[in-house]
Amino acid sequence: MSKIEQIFDLQNKVILVTGAAGLIGSKFCKVLAETGSIVAVADIQEQKTLALAAELQNQGFQAAGFSVNITSPESVHELVTQIVNRFSRLDVLVHCAAMDPKFDRTKKQEHAAGFEDFPLGVWQQALDVNLTGAFLCVQEAARVMLKQKQGVMVLVSSIYGMVAPDQRIYQKGLFKPPYYSVSKAGILGLTRYVASYYAGKNIRINALSPGGIYNDHEEAFVREYSSRTILNRMADVSELEGALLFLASNASSYMTGANLVVDGGWTTW
Ligand SMILES: NC(=O)c1ccc[n+]([C@@H]2O[C@H](COP(=O)([O-])OP(=O)(O)OC[C@H]3O[C@@H](n4cnc5c(N)ncnc54)[C@H](O)[C@@H]3O)[C@@H](O)[C@H]2O)c1
Repeated sequence: MSKIEQIFDLQNKVILVTGAAGLIGSKFCKVLAETGSIVAVADIQEQKTLALAAELQNQGFQAAGFSVNITSPESVHELVTQIVNRFSRLDVLVHCAAMDPKFDRTKKQEHAAGFEDFPLGVWQQALDVNLTGAFLCVQEAARVMLKQKQGVMVLVSSIYGMVAPDQRIYQKGLFKPPYYSVSKAGILGLTRYVASYYAGKNIRINALSPGGIYNDHEEAFVREYSSRTILNRMADVSELEGALLFLASNASSYMTGANLVVDGGWTTW
């Protein structure tokens, strides 16, 4: 193995990916599987999750699918227990699961109401998934990692955890909801809190903050979004892979409590 391969080595590491049925989570599962790690593919969308795990297995990779509701302490506990029973350890948690509205204009959006009329129920549900869900996953992973005396966590935040959304790009009637900014900022806070709480315990935790990933958005939105980045385009989901492998592996061995921003320069100006 070359020195570079050694630094990034994730072979046979047991890696839990939450939100694994989603746009970013599914891509992360695939690239992690390609490193030779054992990927625990977990999401609330059971069918998609099991199908992805089966697809990876059929390709000769090491993977297993798990259904989980991250808002339930019992469900998260059950997930991590199953992983540890089956693979003996949990080396890395990659937490992607979240409510992240995709602005599908063919569907009515519950958050189409303006901020002053934003429904309390949606706010509470989103904080439950985006913040409490992250708290529960980190808490459960930490229990195992403390026993192992080592572990790595990567929590996916967003540029909107760092700066406010520019609502002018979201076109008539649609806007990035308040819970998104608040919960993504909370992920950065959780990252710093947990990093410092486990000082000296050999548990590293960092955030990864992507900018907008192209996903069949409308042309006008892509134009507007792109003009606000330095690189003048949205990201391809594959452009997060390098950052993920860096944060999950020993390549980032002297990083904890940090936020790696992959945003084409959005937050630079
Ligand atoms: N797509 C982007 O442009 C973008 C940009 C910046 C940050 N992010 C962040 O990246 C992460 C992944 O985003 P994505 O675009 O893949 O979103 P996505 O909606 O495609 O995936 C999110 C996944 O989380 C799962 N999930 C939701 N609630 C859950 C629950 N209670 N229990 C278990 N799983 C649950 C969903 O089923 C879904 O598969 C999110 O944290 C998002 O905020 C996305």
